[in-house]
Amino acid sequence: MYDVSKIREDFPILSRTVYGKPLIYLDNAATTQKPRQVVESISDEYYSVNANVHRGVHFLSQQATELHEGSRETVRRFINARSVSEVVFTRGTTESINLVASSFAGGLMKPGDEVIVSVMEHHSNIVPWQLQAERFGIVLKVIPMDEKGELLLDEYEKLFSERTRLVSVTHVSNVLGTVNPVKRMIGMAHAKGVPVLIDGAQSIPHIPVDVQELDADFYVFSGHKIYGPTGIGVLYGKEKWLDRLPPYQGGGEMIQKVTFEKTTFNELPFKFEAGTPDYIGSTALAKALDYVSAIGMEQIAEYEHGLTRYAMSRMKEIKGMRIFGEAEQKSGVISFLVGNIHHFDMGTLLDRLGIAVRTGHHCAEPLMHRLGIEGTVRASFALYNTKEEIDTLVSGIERVSRMFC
Ligand code: ALA
Repeated sequence: MYDVSKIREDFPILSRTVYGKPLIYLDNAATTQKPRQVVESISDEYYSVNANVHRGVHFLSQQATELHEGSRETVRRFINARSVSEVVFTRGTTESINLVASSFAGGLMKPGDEVIVSVMEHHSNIVPWQLQAERFGIVLKVIPMDEKGELLLDEYEKLFSERTRLVSVTHVSNVLGTVNPVKRMIGMAHAKGVPVLIDGAQSIPHIPVDVQELDADFYVFSGHKIYGPTGIGVLYGKEKWLDRLPPYQGGGEMIQKVTFEKTTFNELPFKFEAGTPDYIGSTALAKALDYVSAIGMEQIAEYEHGLTRYAMSRMKEIKGMRIFGEAEQKSGVISFLVGNIHHFDMGTLLDRLGIAVRTGHHCAEPLMHRLGIEGTVRASFALYNTKEEIDTLVSGIERVSRMFC
């Protein structure tokens, strides 16, 4: 049984008020709230274990190292990677993609080589490639989508050429909620010998992910979107690819031997982890993964699917409602506009009712151009949201709409 009221008790922030109204937090695609178990793990580790990892012979350092490396094993298990060597800790999705873009383009690509992305990418899966395009003369190709917000796989197929070196696509759109058929897309790329990076920032909290089952070559995500702390994330990469990529940053930890003449690099995953890692964050991230695993990712997916279906049908009752993203496979992200009401006005007035939504282009300006709009209001759900909160959102939107009539 999915007991949402019991789950909500783990998230103290959900019982606060905003402008005297109970908080209704619907900005989960930007960041999720944290359960006590995660927040307490941060203070517990600082108070009782804190020491730098991998370096000390002393007790605390060894205990901190065990926690940090134990967390890597928790991540490995959560995404079903083959080995902990394939789990690199980063600052988040953005850093993970920058790492792959920089090392892949710098180490394995030549001018004129091509990377395929999609029209619904977040800026973090566009700009890192553009930076490398400027440095190394690589070329970006873009998969288009249809009116429902589904990628056109026939067009995707046509984008491949003998110069395609990598596909880098999002699993779930942070604007449309579209769940892309990434397993199929990976299969299509592999049939042409091309590896694939999946941006899992918006899928990891909502869908069970098995990187071996998907056969993803790289899979990246952020801790803070899955109830973990900010500032830590993951780059999963198949060992055969991580082995071939040159390091991203230099410093302590990532080396084997350093002389002024030559430096050799550490084994995986440490080759990509220069400097003191966020060992407090890794423990807290593992706590977050344990938290969702205890509820069950399948159960979370099913619950959120029900919420999304309910929200879609209720919101469609609203006069003048335009919803962006009507894919068959849709996650709990609903972007909308009502009549001619500006998204900032709608967001600001909903805020006054205690309802937190996001407004703007959602770091996906090319997608906004494709949709022919400047921005949207976005409500995004998490495991602790309820149908009652959706009812309040719907009456809030109706109330704001009446003000503009
Ligand atoms: N990428 C986050 C979002 O879509 C910040 O809101």
